[in-house]
Amino acid sequence: MIEIKNAVKTYGAGDSATSALKGVSLTIKDGEFTVLLGASGSGKSTLLHIASGLERPDEGSVEYDGMDITALGDKLLTAFRREKVGFIFQQYYLLPGLDVDKNVKMGAQLAGNRDYRKIIEDVGLGDKLHKLPSELSGGEQQRASIARALAKRPKVLFLDEPTGALDEETGRQVLDYISALQKELGFSVVMVTHNANIAEMANTVVRMNSGRIIETAVNERQKSAYEIGW
Ligand SMILES: Nc1ncnc2c1ncn2[C@@H]1O[C@H](COP(=O)(O)OP(=O)(O)O)[C@@H](O)[C@H]1O
Ligand SMILES: [Mg+2]
Repeated sequence: MIEIKNAVKTYGAGDSATSALKGVSLTIKDGEFTVLLGASGSGKSTLLHIASGLERPDEGSVEYDGMDITALGDKLLTAFRREKVGFIFQQYYLLPGLDVDKNVKMGAQLAGNRDYRKIIEDVGLGDKLHKLPSELSGGEQQRASIARALAKRPKVLFLDEPTGALDEETGRQVLDYISALQKELGFSVVMVTHNANIAEMANTVVRMNSGRIIETAVNERQKSAYEIGW
């Protein structure tokens, strides 16, 4: 369980200060699919970065099963991030000089997992092991990023607009892989999107506006990637 308590984050100072989070509290239960929904600039990415330890809040705490990661020093926080959480962004951030196998292997090694090949099969790239990122389509590159993130066997997968650079068909396919893998492996998903359709795939939808959570809603039924509108 992740518990964010009263997180405040301001960028810049004086006249140019931007109040990105104005005191946000949120509990993310194990194994859940949580979507952070809101317009551009509402603070979604900032909340994702703070929840995952990529950034520190100015005030407030972030507890993983009772351990406050904001109290960790920089080295321990970096180690925590490397070993415990996976990230997927709109851009794929694969290493361009390494093939699929080596990109995923690097992710696995961060957490000491030697059995990483299965996850490449699971995302449907078993026949693309020795392709470089530049030889893959956008959807295949995003699936390789998913494999790299999941090869760590994280407890939580954080995704920031993961389908933002993909066309509809490829976007649905990537979301379908994510939800199938979540069911198989049991990690939690925290996904940022501005697309209300994608929110229908979640257990819990956290709606943000202007640095605050304005509503938390539970979906009675989670739709599949092929049932939602686009
Ligand atoms: N590194 C940064 N420096 C300055 N301002 C930032 C930075 N990151 C985000 N902001 C500002 O904080 C607010 C929230 O941004 P963000 O969390 O990225 O929103 P969202 O992901 O919902 O679009 C915006 O006004 C944005 O311009
Ligand atoms: Mg954002």
